[in-house]
Amino acid sequence: MSDYDRFAQKYSEAMGDEGDFHHRVSIDPQVYSIIGNPMGKYIYDIGCGNGYMARKLANEGAKVFASDLSEKLINIAKEKSKGLDIQYRAHDATDFSLYQNNFLDLVVMNMVIHYVKDLDELFAGISRVLKKDGVFVFSTSHFFRPDYPYSEWVEGKINGKKQLFIKVTGYLKPTLTKVISWWDSKTELKIYNRPLGILVNKMSKHGLFTFRVEEPESVGFAKDFPQKLRESHHIPTFIIIGATKK
Ligand SMILES: C[S@@+](CC[C@H](N)C(=O)[O-])C[C@H]1O[C@@H](n2cnc3c(N)ncnc32)[C@H](O)[C@@H]1O
Repeated sequence: MSDYDRFAQKYSEAMGDEGDFHHRVSIDPQVYSIIGNPMGKYIYDIGCGNGYMARKLANEGAKVFASDLSEKLINIAKEKSKGLDIQYRAHDATDFSLYQNNFLDLVVMNMVIHYVKDLDELFAGISRVLKKDGVFVFSTSHFFRPDYPYSEWVEGKINGKKQLFIKVTGYLKPTLTKVISWWDSKTELKIYNRPLGILVNKMSKHGLFTFRVEEPESVGFAKDFPQKLRESHHIPTFIIIGATKK
């Protein structure tokens, strides 16, 4: 049983057909903007969850493949996708054995990469299945994300002016952290924290060259701080990266 199997129904309900608040407001607009017009494209959604993004892309004319480690989420996704031409499979993100060489226009991984242990295996697979000039887009928690054990929101002053800060430590050291899932308050999720340089340089090593980085400003966090501070912190919670296969 995968971790997300334990709270698949709850997760799916929270995502619904358009994603939750953070997806709708901060993450997905950037992901969709990198995807561009999906019409006629072959797209693979890795770690698709309940498949809401796969369905949107299929409804807009893409041929969609989607996978997730959670069998329960894949079953939910299939149930929700009746009548749509989406090929769902339950397997690990690094398993590309079912996919041909050079046949996809685009691979998307929305909020999944931090669960993947072996980036070399992942990027080698993505590079193999993408066509030349194909696009890989992923989102992940920003390296300044306050929820993570190595950072937290603080209020302080610079030049006498009150500001919100993030206290960050350990950024350069790749770590495996175990966090209790927000979804059931008991499942321990393993998160692989890596600095931006490791992600970008490893992609390059496998022929995936970064062409776009989006860092939408945090919305809806630091709720306990005064509105004025929240509005002026200019700190991202998520990062979205687009790369091209060369
Ligand atoms: C935060 S959810 C994101 C789901 C979906 N992309 C979305 O944005 O709603 C993370 C997803 O990654 C899946 N996942 C975790 N580890 C995985 C792995 N090693 N291989 C494939 N999927 C994985 C989980 O089952 C879950 O569906």
